[in-house]
Amino acid sequence: MHFEKRPINQRADLINHRVEALANRVIRAADRAKARIGLRGRAASYDDEHYEFAGGAKDELRRKHYDKSLRLLWKAEAAMPWSSFRDMSEAEHAIGDLADKSMTGAERAARKHINSDAFRALLDREYTLEEKQAIVAILAAIGHGEAYAWMVSASLLTEVQSTGARAALTMQVVEEAKHFVVLRELVQAFAVPVPRQTAWEYLLLEGSLKAHGLNKLFGMNILVETIALSIFGLLVSLPGLEVLQLFHLDESRHTALPMNYFKEFPLAGRDRRSVSGRMARVALTLPTLPLIMYLEPALSQLGIDAFDFAGSVMRKISVLSERSGFLDTETMGKQIRLFNSIFNAYCKATRTSHHWKDFMSADTTRGVAVEAVEREIFGATPSNPKASPN
Ligand SMILES: [Fe+2]
Ligand SMILES: [Fe+2]
Repeated sequence: MHFEKRPINQRADLINHRVEALANRVIRAADRAKARIGLRGRAASYDDEHYEFAGGAKDELRRKHYDKSLRLLWKAEAAMPWSSFRDMSEAEHAIGDLADKSMTGAERAARKHINSDAFRALLDREYTLEEKQAIVAILAAIGHGEAYAWMVSASLLTEVQSTGARAALTMQVVEEAKHFVVLRELVQAFAVPVPRQTAWEYLLLEGSLKAHGLNKLFGMNILVETIALSIFGLLVSLPGLEVLQLFHLDESRHTALPMNYFKEFPLAGRDRRSVSGRMARVALTLPTLPLIMYLEPALSQLGIDAFDFAGSVMRKISVLSERSGFLDTETMGKQIRLFNSIFNAYCKATRTSHHWKDFMSADTTRGVAVEAVEREIFGATPSNPKASPN
């Protein structure tokens, strides 16, 4: 490439550079001084001298979350062809058509794209009205959670350090947006009224959005995401809900984010020990218990013991809290025993012939693929004694 060079005034160029260098020193010094006395200095937590966000590159976080999210990116049009989503590219359609051509007649019939009326007919065939209401009650609880996950992950973008963590969170924002709009359409396909948030979800989700600093990661990525992961793991094997496997896979990455982030930026000892921080996390966790009790009739409609589900959720939350540094191992053990006692006491008071049960060793996730995903995160569990964390 040949460029016809244009002459410039060397003296003007020299003066411009000197003026810029002086302005640069003054502007940055003024912002540093403001920040030192608690005024608003530089707004961006960005390190332009190193071409990184404050906190450095942290490429490992980027690889584990941003790169992986893009590899596993799924399209609603392919997963729910009956929906209104048209998010596949021409190339993706062409690949689908090619795959279609290589199939036998029976395979092609099984893969047949159904329209929304056919999908609604499938739901009507498979479920009674009460069962549809139960599924919608459970899915809507997490649907409202997706709205908050979208808002919390966007607000966390300004709380985390490093380029890698921001790239990871950016993918979570995109995935939560997709989860909200896609799940909304799936829930609406059941054609039964969608319940509002219960008071307990309201407290849990508002609490996570209002939480200070990295307690947001606890409220959202550990508490809410684990409840979501467990609900998707519970429902994925039901007819018409196969798409939840894709949600489950995304949520598994979101639950792993605090662990991976705190490996790079460990929680300061004072944050771990701080009584106010611990109390704030306990206050965030508490609404989970009445929420699960409130969902007991809906879970029972689907043949699920609400306290097997509760034990499975609270064990996973405790494990992630310990691995992220929010709890020490001894407190985690105490917490698991405390939840077990509460669940057994409630069942003794509300069930006719309740015998003490170790609810905390239950696992309500069903299906080969989702169980394998959870083994990667939680490792060996009492119900999966042979599993090992990777
Ligand atoms: Fe989500
Ligand atoms: Fe999520």
